[in-house]
Amino acid sequence: MRDTAKASDLLDWYDVHARSLPWRTSPSDRAAGVTPDPYAVWLSEIMLQQTTVAAVKAYFTRFLLLWPTVEALAAARDEDVMAEWAGLGYYARARNLLKCARAVTELGGFPKTRAALEALPGIGPYTSAAISSIAYDQPETVLDGNVERVMSRLYAVLEPLPDSKETLRAHAAALTPERRAGDYAQAVMDLGATLCTPKSPACGICPWQKPCRARADGIAETLPRKRPKAAKPTRLGIAYIARRADGAWLMERRPDKGLLGGMLGWPGAAWGADRIAAPPLDARWQKLDAEALHTFTHFHLRLEIHIAHLPQDAQVAGLDFIPKHSFSRRALPTVMRKAFDLAQSAFDITSKELHQLS
Ligand code: ADE
Repeated sequence: MRDTAKASDLLDWYDVHARSLPWRTSPSDRAAGVTPDPYAVWLSEIMLQQTTVAAVKAYFTRFLLLWPTVEALAAARDEDVMAEWAGLGYYARARNLLKCARAVTELGGFPKTRAALEALPGIGPYTSAAISSIAYDQPETVLDGNVERVMSRLYAVLEPLPDSKETLRAHAAALTPERRAGDYAQAVMDLGATLCTPKSPACGICPWQKPCRARADGIAETLPRKRPKAAKPTRLGIAYIARRADGAWLMERRPDKGLLGGMLGWPGAAWGADRIAAPPLDARWQKLDAEALHTFTHFHLRLEIHIAHLPQDAQVAGLDFIPKHSFSRRALPTVMRKAFDLAQSAFDITSKELHQLS
């Protein structure tokens, strides 16, 4: 007869194999009575939404250095936080991060229950479960992509995602232990990230290999099944990158709502099925041969790049000239950074040519 999966087998594995992560309180520290900092847990979980551990590490460390407490973050300037978030994507997370930090500071600290956590900006069912289990050891069930994959295999769930979500959630909930819920939540994530991987899972060294039904059936690698996604459309756009004689860059702060909300970027025609040239001002615009390519969640973007040199007295209503000394390539969202990188060499070439001509 096959074993049934037990949380304790996974916890034993985690005690030895837990990944060392900058936001994590190790299982040995937790056993010794160290309690996790809810601020670090919350910050990491917001950053890890739709973003890989590898990408998050450096951002997390920098945020904690700049803003070591939730009160410090609450007191930060919005544009500083947006600039530090640049490159992580899903910028609504950064705006909600600030709102949440300010709400938590008003409350005098993070609440402990899922319901109270979910009342805060940017905290949904996943994050509330993660914070209440990891920070406060409450036996809540965390269901992310890793956990879904592990459960779908352990119980050989053939129904495709997202239809199977509630079945997977029920399996995950039934396994969640009363004790060490925080370690357990992170153990399932680690199992999914390191052994029970999407391709070539390392079943031979898995602590749940015996009870795993998908392994017994030889179908682990084919799970979870997924309903086919609609193909992403391609949208077209133009980035107008202009430099004033003193080196200032013409930029636009995007509205808070919507894609790249609240971030600085290059002015441009709306992204759509066609490119409608709508330069922000009259100038001698030069189109580059190269396009910036970027993929968002729901579409691919091909951004044509037009550059111009502007005289010192150029002015554009609704846009800002960002002075050379306060411009930061790093503070741009990735798609705008790609456009800048392509334009920058063109500016160099153009200025060299101008130099040679004069
Ligand atoms: N992914 C999301 N949250 C995580 C965590 N706390 N540890 C590891 N991976 C994660």
